[in-house]
Amino acid sequence: METLTGFDQHDNLKITIIGCGTLGTILAQKFNQQGFEINCLISRTNASAEKLAGLLHVKTFGTETSLIPDNTNLIFIVTPDRVIEEIAGQLAKERLFFNQLAVAHFSGALTTDVFDPLIQKGVVALSMHPFQTFSPASDSKTLSQDIFDCYFGLQASDTEGFDLGKQLIHKLGGKVMYVPKESKTLYHIAAVLVSNYTVTLTHLGAEIFSSLGLSQKDAFQVFEPIMSQTFENLKSSEYIHQVLTGPVERGDSKILKQHLSELKTQMPHLIPAYATFAMETVRVAIQKGSLDPTQASELLHLLENTLIEESKTPLP
Ligand SMILES: NC(=O)c1ccc[n+]([C@@H]2O[C@H](COP(=O)([O-])OP(=O)(O)OC[C@H]3O[C@@H](n4cnc5c(N)ncnc54)[C@H](OP(=O)(O)O)[C@@H]3O)[C@@H](O)[C@H]2O)c1
Repeated sequence: METLTGFDQHDNLKITIIGCGTLGTILAQKFNQQGFEINCLISRTNASAEKLAGLLHVKTFGTETSLIPDNTNLIFIVTPDRVIEEIAGQLAKERLFFNQLAVAHFSGALTTDVFDPLIQKGVVALSMHPFQTFSPASDSKTLSQDIFDCYFGLQASDTEGFDLGKQLIHKLGGKVMYVPKESKTLYHIAAVLVSNYTVTLTHLGAEIFSSLGLSQKDAFQVFEPIMSQTFENLKSSEYIHQVLTGPVERGDSKILKQHLSELKTQMPHLIPAYATFAMETVRVAIQKGSLDPTQASELLHLLENTLIEESKTPLP
């Protein structure tokens, strides 16, 4: 492989992490396990930086980016998305050493555009978003897992950035998915749909079960087998639509009417979500070939009318 101004020699890499939260903590520990040197930890509060510094025996930590040692050649900004651009601008103003410096963020929605002031100074910029979900509660457990055995949406300012990103992702045990800058938002919408909204849907299911007297934990025990089997079916199926079952897939308008009427009396606030998902499910069922045009339009008509009627109902 072509020499990449020192980035290909991971022994030479000195990594500073800005943002010692959920992902910052996991990344720091995983890179540390892989033998990378973490030379500095910065966070909004000293407590977060100190906690992680204690775990990894990092001597330089605090809240000011001016603490970042001059010989740092890789900076990970793992803060909330809304402050990444501001931190990059600050680094561009205060840092004097831009040679052999790369900077990366892990946001699904942002591109390397937020690093423009640094790129203009010759810094290599990367955006490497793990298509994975991390929760603070699972810190220690996650370390023993292949949590990064996932795709990383990679976008970079230049070829050097792509090569560095590929190497870092492979070191973490991940796989690379190239995401063009202009597709980043759509890419992130897909992540939100499959991950966040699965949680929201499960929450809605649990809300309904709470009216049957079940706690969220008990409700999830009931949901788990059907959810796991759905994932198993998805894994073994060539097409997602093949896995679809249920009243919409069977074209059962009578059951759909029963659902909508029960929601109207018991939980009217769930009608928009239920009807919207049902309409999307009609599209999936058409792709599966389960619904003919007449059945599909009958269901869509029923759902559309319910939504229109619901929108006219005054808020309580
Ligand atoms: N969590 C996920 O599932 C996930 C998945 C993929 C990508 N990501 C990406 O990972 C990044 C971080 O997300 P996260 O979930 O780890 O967030 P998080 O748990 O809220 O952690 C963010 C950390 O950033 C620190 N911070 C906030 N403002 C700062 C500032 N101005 N300067 C320095 N540090 C600052 C906070 O410090 P204090 O603790 O000191 O307050 C906090 O610890 C985001 O770009 C997100 O899009 C997250």
